[in-house]
Amino acid sequence: MTANTPLKLADYYQCWSQLQQQRQTWEQRSLLTQFQQDPQRARKLSLEAAGLYLDYSKNHLNNDTLDSLAQLATEAKLPEAIRALLNGAEVNNTEKRPALHTALRFQGQPASEEEQLVADTLAHMARFVEDIHSGRWTGFEGGPIVDVVNIGIGGSDLGPRMVVDALTPFQQHKVHAHFVANIDGAALNDVLRQVDPASTLFIVASKSFSTLETIANARAARGWLLDNGCPEADIHKHFVAVSSRVDRAVNFGIAEANIFPMWDWVGGRYSLWSAIGLPIALSLGMDNFNALRAGAHAMDQHAANAPIEANMPALMALITLWYSHFWGAETQAVLPYSHHMHYFPEFLQQLDMESLGKSVCRDGQPLADTSGLVIWGAEGSNGQHSFHQLLHQGSHCVPVDFITTLTSRHNFPEQHRQLFACCVSQSQALMQGKTLQQAREELLSQGVTPAEADRLAPHKVIPGNRPSNTLVIDRLTPEALGALIALYEHKVYCLSVLMRINAFDQWGVELGKELGTQIDEALVSGNPNPEWDSSTQELLRRFRRES
Ligand code: F6P
Repeated sequence: MTANTPLKLADYYQCWSQLQQQRQTWEQRSLLTQFQQDPQRARKLSLEAAGLYLDYSKNHLNNDTLDSLAQLATEAKLPEAIRALLNGAEVNNTEKRPALHTALRFQGQPASEEEQLVADTLAHMARFVEDIHSGRWTGFEGGPIVDVVNIGIGGSDLGPRMVVDALTPFQQHKVHAHFVANIDGAALNDVLRQVDPASTLFIVASKSFSTLETIANARAARGWLLDNGCPEADIHKHFVAVSSRVDRAVNFGIAEANIFPMWDWVGGRYSLWSAIGLPIALSLGMDNFNALRAGAHAMDQHAANAPIEANMPALMALITLWYSHFWGAETQAVLPYSHHMHYFPEFLQQLDMESLGKSVCRDGQPLADTSGLVIWGAEGSNGQHSFHQLLHQGSHCVPVDFITTLTSRHNFPEQHRQLFACCVSQSQALMQGKTLQQAREELLSQGVTPAEADRLAPHKVIPGNRPSNTLVIDRLTPEALGALIALYEHKVYCLSVLMRINAFDQWGVELGKELGTQIDEALVSGNPNPEWDSSTQELLRRFRRES
């Protein structure tokens, strides 16, 4: 190794070589055999926490593997790192600040300066929600607010959007929440077509209050209100903001009394528990918002106190690292078998990929190992008729997280049972697969000739031995969803600790933002930088020709 060769995780962790050996032994093992040999496997490789049940038995794990993974966690000082996060240590070392999203869901009396700020903001939110729900807060024609439009993007959109949708049965219907994120005017247009300016309130949600998309949409919404009869003097009745930059929100023209604070120590993708959750509180009520916080707090307690071998987020992180660093997995699928959770994979994409998509370690040294995985997915059972084909027979190693609920809140219990069966059967099929012999016998039993069976059987072979977790929620309540989101937040943090990277910055998105501004200026001025590449020049020429 030369002086400049970046260190690999193998150089940091003594147990790495043990895990490499374990990986070799798993070459000869099948998951199906593991189940056949040990009827207690599911009971042994499962655990419950904060109302969630995790079955991780359909993974390439046995006691030896789990011991080695637990040793990795010990060597990485994972328990200490979880405590450091919760105690407000400076875990975001590039921006020199803590990541105290767990303080946003404190319970009981505030016990720190941060928790006091949170308590004050929660009280402000509660008053505001009550004003809107009671009709005391009126629009420019004196009537109540019935539509709320959240204008924000990334963490200022995905969390509240996902939660409001996931908890549809808990919506109180006192106001209808809409979300506009994309700078594409079609997004704003689609929402504005559905609402009446006199009874619509806009929430401008932006931690920085400088995000291009959000400011452009907020300006356009303001113009729409003025064009549709709202007097300038009444604009304050239709705009509130959530931001850590109160000064910028005031400069934009939002009344200071209408600005809900957030703080540097809340990362955008971890912010739905702050006033960024205002659309949640407005749509579901403050009690449900607090129940969501309580569920997350229960998971925080579990993450802080459970030993590694029984710690759900730590285990999930170790299992993911096992596949990404020892099995060559490049992606992970998250498949919620719940129609209302269809935004969950999208939410997780920001949480996980913005946190773990890094090219350097915390100390600034190049990351010599793989970064975080590509997260993708969609609601079950729709995916079964589309990309599951690749999960079953494609060549990629794609670990899957199935998420399912035991009960539903709709009036079609038979369909809920069928949905549950779909979920369980997918993990079973991925694990057990179908051999050539089974495929051939199946064809013969269907009356196919032996020659035709020989021809078709190879196409019907399913390799199996494909890993998955199944997360089971009794009922998709605010508490359960809070616990589920917090579970993934902690999982991502645990992975960052194991991988030695900072989960709380996102410098990678900056260059695109800078170039976007320069390119927009060039489109306005008609003078692109002559040093720009020919592809960019030609694309700009084509746009100018048409616009
Ligand atoms: O561009 C990335 C990002 O900074 C995210 O991290 C953040 O959630 C999103 O943009 C929105 O930022 P803001 O809340 O400051 O508008």
